[in-house]
Amino acid sequence: MRFIHRGVLGLTMLLIPAGAGAQTPAPPRLVLVCAPCHGFDGVGHDRTIPNLAGQHRDYLVGQLTAFRSGQRIHPTMNFFSGQMTREELQGIVEYYSALPRP
Ligand code: HEC
Repeated sequence: MRFIHRGVLGLTMLLIPAGAGAQTPAPPRLVLVCAPCHGFDGVGHDRTIPNLAGQHRDYLVGQLTAFRSGQRIHPTMNFFSGQMTREELQGIVEYYSALPRP
C-alpha cells in the first residue's frame, strides 16, 4: 500500500511540467481543449478570439455559464462550454485568471 502511494506521488511529480513556477500555475489537462484558440498563455490566436489571461474570474465564469445555457450565443463556445462540467470549467477559469495579462 505504502509502495503504491509513493508510486502515484512520483508519477504526479513527473506530470508537473518543469519550470512551472509559483507565478504560472500548471494548466489543468482540459485546457488542451481551449488552447487551440485561446492559447495556453490565454492570448487569443486571432482578432476574433478574446484574451482570457488575467481576466476576472467572476467574469469568465459568468460568460461560460451564459454560453452553456445559450443565453450568450456563439456556436463554437456554446459547444465547448457544454463539453465539460462546471467544476472542470472552474478549474480552467482558475488557470486563465491567474495568468499575467498580455
Ligand atoms: C474553436 C475556437 C475556440 C475554442 C476551442 C474555445 N473557444 Fe472560447 N471563444 C472563442 C471565440 C471565437 C470567442 C468569442 C465569442 C464571441 O465573439 O462572442 C470565445 C469566447 C470565450 C469566452 C468569453 C470571453 C469574453 O471576453 O467575453 C470565454 C470565457 C471562453 N471563450 C472560454 C473558453 C474555454 C474555457 C474554452 C475551453 C473549454 C474555450 N473557450 C474554447 C473560440 C474558442
